[in-house]
Amino acid sequence: MKYEEIQKLFLERGFFFPSSEIYPDSPAGFWDYGPLGVSFRNKFIDLWRKELVRRDDMLEIDGSQILSKNVFVASGHLENFSDPIVNCASCNSVFRADRMISDILGKNLSEKLPTDLYDKYISDNNINCPNCNNKFSLVSNFNMMYKVGIGPKQEESFLRPETCQTIFVDFLRLFKTMRIKLPIGIAQFGKSFRNEISPRQSLLRLREFYQAEIEVFFNPAKVDNYSKFSSISDFEIPICLDDEKIVVKSCHDFVKDGIIPNQFIAYYLAILKQFFDKTGIDTSKMRFRKLLDDDRAFYSSHAFDFEVLTSLGWIELVACNDRSDFDLSRHSNLSGKDITVMDDESKILPNVFEISMGIERSLYSIFEHSFKYEDQRSLLTLKSYLSPFFIAIFPLVNKNNLPELAHNIYEDLKLDFNVFYDESGSIGRRYRRQDEIGTPFCITVDFETLESETVTLRNRDSMEQIRIPIKDLKVKLQDIKL
Ligand code: GLY
Repeated sequence: MKYEEIQKLFLERGFFFPSSEIYPDSPAGFWDYGPLGVSFRNKFIDLWRKELVRRDDMLEIDGSQILSKNVFVASGHLENFSDPIVNCASCNSVFRADRMISDILGKNLSEKLPTDLYDKYISDNNINCPNCNNKFSLVSNFNMMYKVGIGPKQEESFLRPETCQTIFVDFLRLFKTMRIKLPIGIAQFGKSFRNEISPRQSLLRLREFYQAEIEVFFNPAKVDNYSKFSSISDFEIPICLDDEKIVVKSCHDFVKDGIIPNQFIAYYLAILKQFFDKTGIDTSKMRFRKLLDDDRAFYSSHAFDFEVLTSLGWIELVACNDRSDFDLSRHSNLSGKDITVMDDESKILPNVFEISMGIERSLYSIFEHSFKYEDQRSLLTLKSYLSPFFIAIFPLVNKNNLPELAHNIYEDLKLDFNVFYDESGSIGRRYRRQDEIGTPFCITVDFETLESETVTLRNRDSMEQIRIPIKDLKVKLQDIKL
């Protein structure tokens, strides 16, 4: 299966690996980024900044990862951010109740049922512990936030389970200091933490992970006749409704049919799809899924998940939520701060539309959609603006001054591009290694270089080589990079 091949590549080529793996007590669900993973992620985030944050004139902030208890009292996470778990008193195994019952009964149970309903499923169907076949205790709710003790008094705080709460609690200051006019997107890229009961599939369900979240603050009276809508009104997007059938229509038609509630939301769904169209993920394997009332998060009044089809099925990469004034009104009530702001002549409490992207899932999906095996080589056809290295430089052989010449070129290019220098192994193997990690171009210094001061530039996908004068390399590579 593709998933296992990719997992192997991640581990063997320094993209990602389990955290503190040399110790047997290292918990599951924590992964480290190796050098190639860091470069790939940074480039993906650069693309997010360019195609969403800068495109839409948003502001970016970077807040603390530990937040006070009150933040999560107000946000509702202390009360609601939990998963149903069930314990086996005999062997001490713990399961996520909804998933365990769904797997055993072969039907999809919601994760939001009252706990006594899960108990009823367990008793009606005589479900015993899959590990030791003994009886289960009652289902309970397990809050997934990590509690942290601050200072010697161990004051109760929490690692944030979503980055966006910082944006909500900072909104008032940002509004004043940045002279904001609505609507305005505020973006943040950073870590979030969730104490998942059973982290699975390496990068797809982590206990510590990156999110890139955008919260767009707007006046709810102005969601129709939205000025930016005309730029995407004819753009077609795929939406899956409750029957799994995917409907493709223009944003204009989806708004007219009431499937997307307004022009404002349609605009953000469209620019999100346009962003993912640039990542190399097969566009025919993308969809939005409109969530039913039972499936939406507790703060969401309309929700569209952006999903991608992989060898593991459809994976949610981005949650798009209309959070209405849920967060701002609750933070205002608990803190006692007036968070209303002026929009034209009216004083309003802004509403929020959220685009919450899971980074590791997005990286995994891009990887899977770019990974091929052809002509007896593993090939990662990453877009050149996403590949960890843009160029690799090799001397053809380790003699006749070729390594020195190649190294000089490396030194000359390394500040402008992500460059990798390699002089070990046969030239064929060196090309293969770069193909496998997605490097779009390889430069080789060969015997002809000594005579003509030219090098070969090899294209990863076509494997074609052209000769270029060394003096023109930088300009040529800048042109290709753009
Ligand atoms: N902020 C939404 C989420 O983390 O799912």
